[in-house]
Amino acid sequence: MDPRVAAVLARLEDRSIREQQELAELNDKGARFVREAASRFMLDVGVEVGKLLNLLARSLGARRVIEIGGSVGYSTLWFAEAVRSTGGRVVSFEIDPLKVALMRENLADAGLLEHVEIIDDDASKHLPSLEGPFDLVLIDHWKDLYIRDFDLAWPRVRRGGLVVADNILHPASTLEAMQAYVSHVRAAPGARSFTLSAGNGVEITARTDERGAR
Ligand SMILES: C[S@@+](CC[C@H](N)C(=O)[O-])C[C@H]1O[C@@H](n2cnc3c(N)ncnc32)[C@H](O)[C@@H]1O
Repeated sequence: MDPRVAAVLARLEDRSIREQQELAELNDKGARFVREAASRFMLDVGVEVGKLLNLLARSLGARRVIEIGGSVGYSTLWFAEAVRSTGGRVVSFEIDPLKVALMRENLADAGLLEHVEIIDDDASKHLPSLEGPFDLVLIDHWKDLYIRDFDLAWPRVRRGGLVVADNILHPASTLEAMQAYVSHVRAAPGARSFTLSAGNGVEITARTDERGAR
């Protein structure tokens, strides 16, 4: 891997480790407490899922990757490193301006900024008009918005494309919303979907367009 990318990933992984204890305490209090303090935390997908996203993007030959919830750019870096090889582009949505500034800085430090379009706004305002088709979509923002934004993205996921949603199994405070999401996507037309217990748990939903596919 390009040493500039590796260095920024390592810097963010160090930051993430430092945040874990405080985050665990907030999660124990409830999802509302994490959301109120969200500007201070990366809330990243973690190394395992980061590597998974990178490999999925590479093996799909993804040229159009959509990220809903980019934070300071950890998952974005893994995607951008993959699309630099495939000749593709990442569109990353992040609503918090402080995080957008850090994401931009991190991508620039890694030499990957030109592979990412950052949209500093609510994803739902743009998803309906965003150019498709999408090869790969990551849903990793507020948990009560997953179903809404899955429904906006799904019609333009290409056949054979994937939607990956994070935090399916952890934290406990958002499990109920995640169970609703899992039931929802498994009933989507042409979807085949399963939960992989990597990182905080990811639901991987493939668009097969087969009748009755699950
Ligand atoms: C869990 S973090 C994303 C972590 C990131 N994927 C990573 O691995 O580093 C969720 C992010 O979603 C952002 N967010 C929440 N609602 C959003 C929305 N409607 N549109 C875009 N971003 C949103 C929050 O500001 C927060 O930074």
